[in-house]
Parts: sequence; structure tokens; C-alpha cells
Amino acid sequence: MKKRSIGLAAAGVLLLALTGCAAGGDAGGTGEGPKPLDELVVGFSQVGAESGWRTANTTDIQGAFEDAGIELKFSDAQQKQENQIKAIRSYIQQQVDVIAFSPVVESGWDAVLNEAKAAGIPVVLTDRAVDSADDSLYVSFLGSDFVEEGKKAGEWVVEEYADADDVKIVQLEGTTGAAPAIDRAEGFADVIGADDKFEIVASQTGDFTRAGGKQVTEALLKSNPDIDLIYAHNDDMGLGAIEAIEAAGLTPGEDIKIVTVDAVKDGMQALADGKINFIVECSPLLGEQLVEIVTQINDGETPEKRIVTEETTFTQEQAVEALPDRQY
Ligand code: AHR
Repeated sequence: MKKRSIGLAAAGVLLLALTGCAAGGDAGGTGEGPKPLDELVVGFSQVGAESGWRTANTTDIQGAFEDAGIELKFSDAQQKQENQIKAIRSYIQQQVDVIAFSPVVESGWDAVLNEAKAAGIPVVLTDRAVDSADDSLYVSFLGSDFVEEGKKAGEWVVEEYADADDVKIVQLEGTTGAAPAIDRAEGFADVIGADDKFEIVASQTGDFTRAGGKQVTEALLKSNPDIDLIYAHNDDMGLGAIEAIEAAGLTPGEDIKIVTVDAVKDGMQALADGKINFIVECSPLLGEQLVEIVTQINDGETPEKRIVTEETTFTQEQAVEALPDRQY
């Protein structure tokens, strides 16, 4: 079982007892109960701006805090763990009321999270998990079930190729060591692994970026010219793959099928245009729920330890229908 699996509610209670602070209705440690929202300060460390998903996530979180009248200090880590650690340390120094962050990779957070705990500042994980064995280091984890997303992609592939004898797959992985890269690979492999006609002939990271997806696909098309399908861990890498496939004189969505994760507008447009074949949704709209968690902490309540985002999947026909109302 993964270490970072859902923690016990009791761990949250223990955290509160240890910190004697925020979720006891004393986020600022003043002993005077909940603070007015306009006095609350939250420090948020974002992964970067690597994808359309990330940009939508940043916009949504900043908008939700503005609407709630809560100050949000924001830092962009440019996909570097050391920048996130620096940002978290700076938030500890500034004695913010709550720290929230989306960890660029899963490992290596215990030291800085222990510093936040020692300072009595509750930490909320958004979007991505950490693999810490000690789940008292964070109060709540809000985000998608990435293993499930990988499974949904795999299920579509199994159905799509029900009559095929042999399916050669290239996997474009997300950032090495990131929870969505690890989990989406795992969920997908679990499903397609049941039938040995499916072969992942190459699997490389495109770092969740369009440029990365294009570059990796260009190289892989040379060594594996006869692939049937690309499974990209996000839309942006799939969009990069489309450019590489077209540059090679092939038709994306036909000569090589593409399944991706996210369902941002550009991905949905490519799906509606027939260049992507299937998208598993990963919702970036976490702002409102994050505000809710922060408010609960401020009120002395214990937020749920694990909050899983609701999401769906899209076929090409469904993308045509959904596109006009797509927010991001
Ligand atoms: O953690 C969520 C993932 O990170 C999204 O799927 C991807 O687009 C982003 O960069």
C-alpha cells in the first residue's frame, strides 16, 4: 500500500493537538478564536506555468481567494522543488495562517513540512500528493485521483482496440517523480497489462509541456515509426505530439491515435477536431474548495483529510457539445 494513501482523521486531530493552533479556531495563534477573513493570510506555492491546466488552476485559485476576501501570497516555483521549499520557508517566516502547495514531485518534503508543523502553521496539499510516511504533516489533500485517471485512459484503449491483435503504444510521461506522472502510468499499466497484445514500446518524459511532448514524439517516431497510439499524461504533451505527427506527414487521430488527460480548452478543441481521440478530465478548479478548507481551519474545524475532485471523460462527440461552455 502506498505510504501517501488516505490518512486517518485521528492524524488531523493529533496535528491540532501538537500545533495547538490553527484548526482550534486560532489560526494566528492569538488565543482569540477565528480571525475575520480579511485578516487571514494564506501562502500558496504553485508548481509553475507548464501547461494550460496549470494556468487555469492558478487563475481559479487566485480568483477564489479574491472573491472570499482572503489575502493569498502566491509564488511560482518554475517546476523546481528547491524554489517551492524556499517559498514555504519564507511563508513560515512570515507566519502566514495557512500554507497551501501543489508539490512538483512526491518525495523530499518531510524536513520543510516538519518546520511548518513546528511553527504551528497548517499545510494543505492541493492537486498533488507527497509520499511522506507521516500524514500529520498536512491537514488535508485536495485533488484528483490520478491512478483512476490512468485507468480510465486504459479502459478506453482496451475498448477501442477490442478487435486488434497487436497495439504499439508510446507513453509521454509527465514530470519525473511527480504524482500524476507516477499514478497515471500505474493506472494505465494496470488496465492494459491484462492483455499482452498491448505493448508500451517507449515511455519518456515530456515534463507536462507542449514543447516536451513535441520533442519526445519527434524522436520516438524515428525509432518507432509503426506506433498505433500515444498515451500522453496531459493535453499539452498530446498537443505537442500532434505537431510532431503532422510534421512527419501523418494524420493525428487516424494514423496514430491519441489519448490524453486534462480536458483544457485547447485539448478539447483538438478532440473536437478529431486530432485527439479521447480525453480523461482532470479538473483544475480547486479554488473554491481550497477556500472552504482554509475557512474550516480558521473556524477550528477539521477538514476532511482527503478530498477527491469529481471528473469525467470526453469522446470526440462529447467534446463538440461541451466546448462552447468550457470555462478553461
Ligand atoms: O498535477 C496536474 C497535472 O499537472 C496536469 O495534468 C498537468 O497538465 C499539469 O501540469
